[in-house]
Amino acid sequence: MKMGKLAADKRTVFVFLVLVTWSTSVFLLRSYTKGYNFLTAPWYKTTSFTQPPFAVKTRAPEPEVQRCSFKYLPPAHIEEGRRLLDSITWPETLPLPKPFSLNLTTSGPKSTFYIEPEAEGWRVGGELTVRIQMKDFSGNPKSSGGDFLIGRLHNRELGAGVVGQVQDHLNGTFTAVFPLLWNGTASVDVTLVQSSESISVLKRLTEQNPDRIDFGSDFRSGSVKETTTCNVCLDPLKGPLCNYSDPSTGEQWFCYKPKTLDCGKRVNHFIGNIKTIISKEEEALFQTGVNLIASLKAVGSNTVTVLSKAGESQEMSFKPAGYYFNNIWRPLSGPAVRQFNNASAITACLKGKQLHMFGDSTVRQYYSYITQSLKNLQTFDKHSSTQGGPFLAVNQTDDIMVTYRTHGFPIRIRPLLVSQVQYVSSELDRVAGGPNTVVIVGVWAHFGTYPMELYCQRLLNIRRAILHLLIRAPGTKVIIRTGNMKSMNLPISVTNGDWYALQPDKLLRAVFKDTGVFLLESWEMVQAHYLPHNLHPGPEIIKLMMDQVLSLTCPETRR
Ligand SMILES: *[C@@H]1O[C@H](CO)[C@@H](O)[C@H](O)[C@H]1NC(C)=O
Ligand SMILES: *[C@@H]1O[C@H](CO)[C@@H](O)[C@H](O)[C@H]1NC(C)=O
Ligand SMILES: *[C@@H]1O[C@H](CO)[C@@H](O)[C@H](O)[C@H]1NC(C)=O
Ligand SMILES: *[C@@H]1O[C@H](CO)[C@@H](O)[C@H](O)[C@H]1NC(C)=O
Ligand SMILES: *[C@@H]1O[C@H](CO)[C@@H](O)[C@H](O)[C@H]1NC(C)=O
Ligand SMILES: *[C@@H]1O[C@H](CO)[C@@H](O)[C@H](O)[C@H]1NC(C)=O
Repeated sequence: MKMGKLAADKRTVFVFLVLVTWSTSVFLLRSYTKGYNFLTAPWYKTTSFTQPPFAVKTRAPEPEVQRCSFKYLPPAHIEEGRRLLDSITWPETLPLPKPFSLNLTTSGPKSTFYIEPEAEGWRVGGELTVRIQMKDFSGNPKSSGGDFLIGRLHNRELGAGVVGQVQDHLNGTFTAVFPLLWNGTASVDVTLVQSSESISVLKRLTEQNPDRIDFGSDFRSGSVKETTTCNVCLDPLKGPLCNYSDPSTGEQWFCYKPKTLDCGKRVNHFIGNIKTIISKEEEALFQTGVNLIASLKAVGSNTVTVLSKAGESQEMSFKPAGYYFNNIWRPLSGPAVRQFNNASAITACLKGKQLHMFGDSTVRQYYSYITQSLKNLQTFDKHSSTQGGPFLAVNQTDDIMVTYRTHGFPIRIRPLLVSQVQYVSSELDRVAGGPNTVVIVGVWAHFGTYPMELYCQRLLNIRRAILHLLIRAPGTKVIIRTGNMKSMNLPISVTNGDWYALQPDKLLRAVFKDTGVFLLESWEMVQAHYLPHNLHPGPEIIKLMMDQVLSLTCPETRR
């Protein structure tokens, strides 16, 4: 008995020692390889190195070449990129309560707002102010900010609507200001789009799981076919990579190298899996009508009567891009907008014109609008991918050409030939341009899962290409479509939600400020409209957007 126990103990000690030695070496090796790029390590480059890696005592030098990173900004864009990104920071949001309690997080239905009384009443040309108090599920006032709120002032009978400017006081209270632009009644809606706690989750996902939507490519040679994972950034320690980064734009793209085929055998690109990596508890932060797209309760009436203007308008403290009246979008600045209500009006405008559209599916809607409105346009699209194009519609007699092409990686799309995935900036470099050319760019919906650096880099490349185009072909009209809000549920909100769309939207405005390009204000147009938010806005809204595009394409000549 005794002997047996001793032997067993010895065995235990031996196994223990082996385990300790093994785990220590794994730990050392891990810590060593972490953050270290073997390919650029000095010892790797020398053909006969004398020091094996484990003899290096000091910290490894910083790799000369930055390892593939989602946060990549190339040296040429670092300074401006950082300044732009700093200009759009979201307020600090608190970490989730520990232990988790939904009670302590923001609730839409518990939160309230009231219209600040106006002794003299409301008049067109003035403003309406709304005070908002956010509360948690227990009904206690919140004391920190970071919730994502929107406000709308509207009158359905008059076909009127306008967005408000929402200011976060960072203490659980917000103020929303609405310009008064029509007489009659006006009702206020305040909506919690996402709670600050859910935004903490969204921020974490971007930091830790930027690859939660992944992509793939098929590689082919003869009868051999292999498929691998692709993304903006892949871990070089998990396998050899194919580097498809674009030398002229610096845009990064990688696939894992197939086992047998070489990198040159890549034929297509497609969206892969979508992983939502959040806990059961966190899921409670994404309940539609509760803390995701949830209306706030009005204390008192949410409706006021606005009288006609008397005397001078006061200076608007917030000037939106436009508003709806009679269900027509009325911009408050920029060129006058005309109605293009039938095919002959559209054709007359497009005679002798070229429209080139680049971007995501929200720009493709404009191409479809034109080809569906003009039966005299001949399309040549049957050989193209229905999602990615490239599309072409022409009429020789009327000298009209309309094209559409999807934007480059990352693009969430069903299989598309890699030959057809092109960066917008490279495409713009091939546009001849001139006074009869209109370029429409809409790149915003496929970047939500990534840190903003990627989108920033993309926009700076597009801006560079636009400015070059305007220099070599003066008179070219350039239109940039902004993002817009959409219908959301849990999976959409963690991959492509409105908060993820708002950050690039702010960046886009900052990047194209003072460049003279026309911003097509989809954000306000969708938010101010009575239709439910939709990634692909309904036909009524598309028509009003196209009225702006066509008004810009064919400005009324003054006589
Ligand atoms: C949340 O609040 C409700 C009612 O206010 C209470 O019954 C419940 O125990 C609270 N839950 C936690 C985890 O605090
Ligand atoms: C929150 O901040 C606003 C603006 O600074 C201030 O007017 C308000 O009194 C503050 N409210 C609370 C509850 O601290
Ligand atoms: C707005 O004012 C005009 C003229 O002052 C008036 O004719 C019209 O009825 C008013 N509309 C509403 C909805 O009150
Ligand atoms: C990928 O290729 C680009 C351009 O050819 C190069 O600048 C970059 O350093 C390469 N990246 C990696 C991780 O090899
Ligand atoms: C088309 O619209 C224009 C301008 O709105 C109008 O003048 C014209 O009569 C309309 N043509 C047809 C065929 O309806
Ligand atoms: C081009 O337009 C003209 C007149 O608008 C029409 O008669 C012709 O059929 C169109 N051509 C094609 C190829 O669609």
